[in-house]
Amino acid sequence: MSRIAYVNGRYCRHSEAAVSIDDRAFVFGDGVYEVCEVRGGALIDEDRHLARLARSLGLVRIAAPLTEPALRRVLREVVARNRVRDGLVYCQISRGAARRDFGFPSDAKPGIVITAKALDPRLNEERAAQGVKVVTAPDERWAHPHIKSLQLLPNVLAKQSAREAGAYETWFVDNAGFVTEGASSNAWIVTAQGRLVTHPLDGVILPGVTRATLIEVAAALGVVVEERAFALEEAFEAREALMSSATTVALPVVAIDGRPVGDGRPGTTARGLRSRFHDIAQRA
Ligand code: PDD
Repeated sequence: MSRIAYVNGRYCRHSEAAVSIDDRAFVFGDGVYEVCEVRGGALIDEDRHLARLARSLGLVRIAAPLTEPALRRVLREVVARNRVRDGLVYCQISRGAARRDFGFPSDAKPGIVITAKALDPRLNEERAAQGVKVVTAPDERWAHPHIKSLQLLPNVLAKQSAREAGAYETWFVDNAGFVTEGASSNAWIVTAQGRLVTHPLDGVILPGVTRATLIEVAAALGVVVEERAFALEEAFEAREALMSSATTVALPVVAIDGRPVGDGRPGTTARGLRSRFHDIAQRA
């Protein structure tokens, strides 16, 4: 079965899908995106993803190319046409195609591409059962990581350095030694007192949708959450660690820079959060 993409108003095969070489996403990374989990054919936390997309568009001053109801319909149509039961749906919006000029073009129409891909849920479950290793790297991104922008070169390089180190994710560490977030995930620890700690939403991390839902899951489990920065040194001493994103949900972290976290096995808090996540997340 060929994969189908939605490109600027048309559904087409991936092999035939095309955008202009003048598209500003291609030339400047001038656009924003969202990734939403698909589970059992349903979109998970769609409202939060669409709200963040609207915020990202507003912050970079790109007009929405579709109304929200139309976008919801197209997301579902792309999921259905690709027969994705479990996986993700990806939506990117660029400022459009125009002759190369740094300032905004006066005539370009925003461009939109939506794709979906199936992922084997067993792989994620195996990864969660084992736990994953993370390495760290200096957070050298731009000053606005709260915008879900297409400019991901530092994140790409960080993810690759994790792979080359035999790890699954890289955690960014700021100049003061605090862990901000992962290359494509949010970062968490569990203290000796059992408190769940994650960086606050002060503009230097992406406000993860999974992060927001996990805070609700923690409340349901009676786990206290502290939204504050934690130093890498504190993470080394933590009882547990975990990472979160739409594609991984809550994933236990069992080693940081080669040092085992806690007893080096997935912790009970991380496992509890993971197992309750989909009872609480929106399913639409
Ligand atoms: N990435 N931080 C960064 C830098 C991210 O790229 C992501 C998600 C997250 C977690 O956000 P959420 O829970 O809303 O997925 C945090 C997606 C999965 C991606 O780029 O593929």
